[in-house]
Amino acid sequence: MSELALLGGKPVRTEPFPAYRFIGEEEKAAAIRVLDSGILSRFLGTWHPDFFGGPEVQAFERDWAASAGVRHGVSMNSATSGLYAAVGAVGAGPGDEVIVSPYTMIASATAAIVFNAVPVFADIDPETYTLSAETIEARITSRTKAIIVVHIFGQSADMDPIMALARRHGIRVIEDCAQAPFATYKGRSVGSLGDIGVFSLNYHKHIHTGEGAMCTTDDDELAERLQLIRNHAEAVVEKKGVTNLVNMVGFNFRLGEIEAAIGRAQLRKGPALVQTRRENVRYLEAKLAGIPGLAMPKVGSGGDHVYYVHALDYSEATTGVSRDTFVQAVKAELPPTGLREHEGPLMGAGYVRPLYMAPMFRQMVGYGTKQCPFRCPHYEGTPNYSNGICPNAEAAHFGRVITHEMMRPPMTRRDIDDVAAAFHKVAENLHRLSDRAASKA
Ligand SMILES: Cc1ncc(COP(=O)(O)O)c(C=O)c1O
Repeated sequence: MSELALLGGKPVRTEPFPAYRFIGEEEKAAAIRVLDSGILSRFLGTWHPDFFGGPEVQAFERDWAASAGVRHGVSMNSATSGLYAAVGAVGAGPGDEVIVSPYTMIASATAAIVFNAVPVFADIDPETYTLSAETIEARITSRTKAIIVVHIFGQSADMDPIMALARRHGIRVIEDCAQAPFATYKGRSVGSLGDIGVFSLNYHKHIHTGEGAMCTTDDDELAERLQLIRNHAEAVVEKKGVTNLVNMVGFNFRLGEIEAAIGRAQLRKGPALVQTRRENVRYLEAKLAGIPGLAMPKVGSGGDHVYYVHALDYSEATTGVSRDTFVQAVKAELPPTGLREHEGPLMGAGYVRPLYMAPMFRQMVGYGTKQCPFRCPHYEGTPNYSNGICPNAEAAHFGRVITHEMMRPPMTRRDIDDVAAAFHKVAENLHRLSDRAASKA
């Protein structure tokens, strides 16, 4: 067996992996159809039939709602915008708390702050990395207005107990489905389980429109509020006859016609793209089986997995080598990946630092200079963003989780063979890494 690449040996592979590209003829035809029409957006920020957007936007919303099994799709220009609109739609504001996972992309938490509500971090389940009813319940107070459940890495949280808890307390549930399009829970699509679902269509996702998003809801009033916040609510409420002015400060979160037309084509391809990810994961997992200290992702109760990220659970206690060194060694065996050419393979030690460690929370500086919303006079709680509030998230991030996307299309079986060979090479040379650590000490 040759020397580890990290220690100067020859890597398993240097030939680049295929880039993440899956825009085809259908998307090109869709974009040209819109260009030929000359109407690149048809939104009007006043009360008028065009308040709801152009023909492609409205058709995309109908297509998505049908595919997710909900009454309404409301498109947005990003999932960040979608989360902001969702928090606004459920009526959160100064003095309120929004419970959210700390192990997610930052927009899941800043969404609360935008409406001057305070994010409260609940811990994740150590096996699925999603919030659970138990971890949420420990954080509920009389101020809790909403819960943002993140279907992180591509699998649904265990939603039945979460919904039962939320209904018991009269709390709204927003599902952050950014990483989980086409995932299901007990046979139902994510995004149809809570009050509002938010899907991302940025270019890293299973399907994309460059930038973009879709909100889903079965609730007519919430759908209207999402549409209002998306498109200059304040300019429309009078003529539309809207009497509930809470959070009717509008934005421009509108999606363009080209993106919507591309989105319709991508939506049709989504199930096959997800299927490819699942097959690639099955193939890779069979090859990685038996590597000591490396456990495959657990798929939680009632849900399936669409593998935005394939999160491996690493045990330093078993290998004697730190997770970070192990990941460095595997990455060194593999070439950079398309779209991330300067960063090496799409693989990381952990995911994102638990969000409460970000300066915004540590220093409690949000809006203006008066520490709103954290020290807002309307807020009667005491925010706690210190280390240790979510021990499972910290253990996952700092010691256990290895994230990678080496199973996404168009990776071939041969590409995946090389990924597996890199893991095996490192696993078989662990003593070389522990010797190195010992000699450095
Ligand atoms: C869990 C999660 N929520 C929200 C977002 C925000 O999505 P967007 O980039 O569409 O604003 C992302 C994007 O990566 C995400 O992964």
